[in-house]
Amino acid sequence: MYRKDYQPSAYLIHTTELSFDLHENEVIVNSKIHFYKNPKCQLNDDSLALNGVELELISILLDGDKPDYELTDQELQLHNLPDEFILEIVNRIHPEANTSLNGLYQSSGNFCTQCEAHGFRQITYYLDRPDVLSVFTTHITADKDKYPVLLSNGNLIDDSGSSVTWHDPTPKPCYLFALVAGDFAVLEDNYITLSGRDVALKIYVEHHNIDKTQFAMTSLKRSFAWDESRFNLEYDLDIYMIVAVDDFNMGAMENKGLNVFNSTFVLADPKTATDKDFINVEAVIGHEYFHNWTGNRVTCKDWFQLSLKEGLTVFRDQEFTSDLHARSIKRIEDVNALRTFQFAEDAGPMAHPVRPESYIEMNNFYTLTVYEKGAEVIRMIHSFLGEKGFQQGMKLYFERHDGDAVTIDDFIASMSDANDFDFKPFMTWYTQSGTPKISIQSSYDKQEQRLNVDVKQLGDQTYLLPLKYALLNDQGDIFKEGMLHIDQQQQTFSFDGIESKPVTSWLRDFSAPVNLTTDLSFEQKIFLVGHEQDAFSVWDNAQQIWLSLILTPEKVNQSLFFDAIEKVIKTTQDKSLISEILTLPSERLLHQKVDVIDVFDIHQKRESVINKILIRFESLLLQTYQSLVDDKAYELTPEAVGERSLKNICLFYLSKGEYLYLANEQFSQANCMTDQIAAFSLLVASDNQYREKAKSDFYQTFKNDAQVMDKFFAVQSSSLVGDVKSVKLLMQHELFSFNTPNRLRSVVGSFAQNYINFHNQAGYEFFTDIILKLNKTNPQIGARLVSVYNHWKRFTPELKALQQQQLEKIIQSDDLSNDIFEIVQAALK
Ligand code: PHE
Ligand code: ZN
Repeated sequence: MYRKDYQPSAYLIHTTELSFDLHENEVIVNSKIHFYKNPKCQLNDDSLALNGVELELISILLDGDKPDYELTDQELQLHNLPDEFILEIVNRIHPEANTSLNGLYQSSGNFCTQCEAHGFRQITYYLDRPDVLSVFTTHITADKDKYPVLLSNGNLIDDSGSSVTWHDPTPKPCYLFALVAGDFAVLEDNYITLSGRDVALKIYVEHHNIDKTQFAMTSLKRSFAWDESRFNLEYDLDIYMIVAVDDFNMGAMENKGLNVFNSTFVLADPKTATDKDFINVEAVIGHEYFHNWTGNRVTCKDWFQLSLKEGLTVFRDQEFTSDLHARSIKRIEDVNALRTFQFAEDAGPMAHPVRPESYIEMNNFYTLTVYEKGAEVIRMIHSFLGEKGFQQGMKLYFERHDGDAVTIDDFIASMSDANDFDFKPFMTWYTQSGTPKISIQSSYDKQEQRLNVDVKQLGDQTYLLPLKYALLNDQGDIFKEGMLHIDQQQQTFSFDGIESKPVTSWLRDFSAPVNLTTDLSFEQKIFLVGHEQDAFSVWDNAQQIWLSLILTPEKVNQSLFFDAIEKVIKTTQDKSLISEILTLPSERLLHQKVDVIDVFDIHQKRESVINKILIRFESLLLQTYQSLVDDKAYELTPEAVGERSLKNICLFYLSKGEYLYLANEQFSQANCMTDQIAAFSLLVASDNQYREKAKSDFYQTFKNDAQVMDKFFAVQSSSLVGDVKSVKLLMQHELFSFNTPNRLRSVVGSFAQNYINFHNQAGYEFFTDIILKLNKTNPQIGARLVSVYNHWKRFTPELKALQQQQLEKIIQSDDLSNDIFEIVQAALK
């Protein structure tokens, strides 16, 4: 599919009336669709192709008569159509056998749907494209004993007979359609919007989870309030429902008025969810809620525009979390994830622009690039315009486009027009793939009291980007700070009246998603760790030094750096920040920094720095750890989160030495999952006297909690103890479930990130078998997992050859899905 081939639909849809007759072993779908000729479509075409996949057509009537039609395995083609007509179709589907988790499927015996991007065509024949919007009415008939809860989008307008009827007044594309039927418990509340609308809030979960829903409800109300106060956006229906299901390919889905969530992003209580889990629940609840404006009221013209809704909505959820919790820590975590995962994607075979030009399978483009880099691009727009200008742009965007399906260009035009800012040179961010490289060199002229700064863009493309900076004097005071507009391949900036040679700090707050090299010396970086006010810069400079200490220790003055780290530990107030600074770059990130990936060598080098830290800081770590052990009641304040975070990073280092017993004590006394899982992973990570008992205690305590069991499996699959055989054993466990993506990810996905145990012939062969099985059951998940091989060319010769063999085996197998084919053929190119 190519972006350049976009054509408006020849027909549009006024109304869609759907009736579902639900049975355990089949569902009959009845649809009545009112089509009319698209006045904006020039083509004089009286044919129309409806999408439909794996449907059994039972009957079809056009204005009451048999139409002229043809069926293929992907389409229903209609010919000789009038300008306006009503199409009535009856078809059969089999949700009980649907393991793809797209379309209508079952989870724990309940029915639910997933229609983005192309799931609706697995329900009935339709114009399955985001620019065809219609008003939906949905009737659901089912055995009310088995399925007492029957939900769809919009308002419940009839609940009198054997079926229920939902009506959604807001026109929407079919990817936002949802249906849920089953036996659920519900938590109810309400929210009164700014203008006084009383909105019923309902969170549906399986009965045994009802006591883990309060936090999600609080998060939902915070989301309503935040979007009103920060973006002046209100909710538009009288009811907002969230349903949690255990079987879900992604995080959650913003279906109009009826979000469907992966349970992991709904259920949370301190005993079973970590601090990170809590923040993630709140962020995803926020994200889906914020889509109501950025995604639903204004949607995408075609799927190439995906970042129009996703980049913008991720930016919004990041701001939500930042406003509610610790902004600087959120920024550090987001940037760390961006560099670790998105930069790798941008450097690999699936690299694509934030607005891709083509795809084979759309599901493969729900990527870190579209989401996270897309959010960085929005963040740069925000940096250029400021909060006020950005909000003016948003206001104009909604004035112009509420109710429409639009493009990224339309969004940019609103931002430009509301601010009189020329974003034309900015569009490179949407059209080019890859991470831009920037280099900065500065020179100080004592005589002229002038600082000259040369900024170069090292690639062929020219980007417009905001470069935030600060200048520090030798006392460490910031005497100048600001933002440069970079818009040329090469630019020189002069700062006058500078009395002595300053220390320069560039790319504060990570103001642009680039790879930056500067001429800062090792000593200057240490100086910034000690004096920068911007927490991101403090962390970033420390990270750069850790990186050198791991990869090129001979070039680093270790004792000077460790003295600076000691000062950070002793004087920094923000405990989360200390903890971030004490966290080494991950092996995954280190892989990007070497020419040839030698997983064992990288692991050893990183371990050796861990040892150096332990040797140098043993008593300080121990003292810090002990000062933070307490039995306070659980709180999710930034302070309490920071204390746990620092405590657990101390425990991590200590457990590498003589202090594993502390992990064992913490494990048995922990009053929250954050402390419990931190200790548990340390006990399981190595072969030790506590390991087996910890495993069985943990299992006994939490075996009925799916979210905790995902952690239980992931910790074991990630452990250096064991091998392919132990992972195969986990797959024999009674709680293992191949068709539940969360569980599969926790066992197999975690194993593929266990570099030491995965990277060998047996590991690869095991993994390839899984991929080939997923090719039949859930190709979307298969494609995600097979991306593990994307960087095969960069490995040491033996592992490189082995991975290549696996990729070739996969591509040669019969009936390869588009999903997996697209990833593997790109990798092999
Ligand atoms: N649109 C969803 C989100 O970003 C993600 C999603 C995509 C979920 C495709 C399911 C399928 O919130
Ligand atoms: Zn989204």
